[in-house]
Amino acid sequence: MMRNVAVLGSTGSIGRSALDVIRRLPRRFRVSTLAAGANLKLLAEQIREFRPALVSVVRREDAGVLAGLVGRTKTLVAFGPEGAEDAAAFNGNDIVVSAITGTSGLRPTLAAVKAGKTVALANKESMVAAGPLLLREARRWKSTVIPVDSEHSGIFQCLAGEDLSAVRTAILTASGGPFLRVPLRAMARKSVAEALAHPRWKMGKKVSVDSATLMNKGLELIEARYLFGLPPAKLKILIHPQSVVHALVEMRDGSVLAQLSPTDMRIPIQVALTYPERLESPLPPLDLASLRRLEFHPVDPRRFPMIELAAWALAEERSAPIALNAANEAAVDAFLGGRISFSDIHRTVASVLERYRPLDLGGLDDILAEDLRVRSLTRNLIAKRT
Ligand SMILES: NC(=O)c1ccc[n+]([C@@H]2O[C@H](COP(=O)([O-])OP(=O)(O)OC[C@H]3O[C@@H](n4cnc5c(N)ncnc54)[C@H](OP(=O)(O)O)[C@@H]3O)[C@@H](O)[C@H]2O)c1
Repeated sequence: MMRNVAVLGSTGSIGRSALDVIRRLPRRFRVSTLAAGANLKLLAEQIREFRPALVSVVRREDAGVLAGLVGRTKTLVAFGPEGAEDAAAFNGNDIVVSAITGTSGLRPTLAAVKAGKTVALANKESMVAAGPLLLREARRWKSTVIPVDSEHSGIFQCLAGEDLSAVRTAILTASGGPFLRVPLRAMARKSVAEALAHPRWKMGKKVSVDSATLMNKGLELIEARYLFGLPPAKLKILIHPQSVVHALVEMRDGSVLAQLSPTDMRIPIQVALTYPERLESPLPPLDLASLRRLEFHPVDPRRFPMIELAAWALAEERSAPIALNAANEAAVDAFLGGRISFSDIHRTVASVLERYRPLDLGGLDDILAEDLRVRSLTRNLIAKRT
């Protein structure tokens, strides 16, 4: 059966991989809508190739420029947060790939959920900031959320047909990023280019920096907490530099299930798009014999102190994950902009959370207002210190 797919964040790393999966399965998937930020040249190419019914960009003036770039076309061009929500909730969509980066992905993801779509979720920040709300609305509107993050896809696949109450521990693996083996005292001076040079994955800038600090894994712990409804005590992280085993689930009878696949996001994306079917992948298979060794180590909190901040937010729940995520996004932005050093990312987020008192927040407006408040608090703190 042909299925119509919306790709939100189509010009990014996940978005481009999702379009490649669709390109290779033309009898199964058609692109219905796209949403992107400011990469108009690539978006114009995507419009020419996939002929979506609607696309959205961030800025109003870019909508006009884009229309000029593509020339005569039936594709409607929208803009702003409402444009991205329209691209998500578009009537013809069956599946929505949610791959906008950061909290900007929350409103479109919620719009897709409320329109009852199947959501292939890469945008972990929306689950971290608003997991309970997203899942409540998903139940209400009969929307299914399928993880795209490789670790969550791994847990999802290991849990197929299993009883959640039989799970002893779900383990998310982390490559350890570019600074796994650098001397601790050298970490503080690491440059933006060094932080972006991930040894295993080619990703967007924000998630690459999060991988270097290991906050990415902290956010993923919280994402897993909500997605699978497992209590924090049943969630663990192990460093696994080879990035071949993406997740392991230990059952109460002592069996450990693991999900392995090549280090290529097109695999979990295809799993999410075709679920519950499994289709042939054109990618080279995993060559187990050439792997030689698979290592697993506990996380060293001196090297990766962010993980303790994430554990705090996971235990506190309520608005603590929103604050963690917002402070981190603002700090990573400042690091990428050259305003703070690599070690200042942790120092900044820790200072914000030290004074933070978690609140009970219900609706989207409260969540977004709290996100903005913590972001501005973080920016002010950074401005005072620099
Ligand atoms: N990359 C990975 O391997 C990976 C793996 C697991 C999970 N994830 C998650 O997937 C999400 C995307 O990651 P990524 O690596 O693909 O990031 P990325 O390469 O930076 O791409 C982000 C995409 O979002 C678009 N965008 C940014 N702000 C937007 C806004 N306000 N409205 C609409 N579109 C906007 C960007 O558009 P422009 O580029 O046109 O400005 C781009 O298309 C993140 O939440 C990340 O944590 C990524």
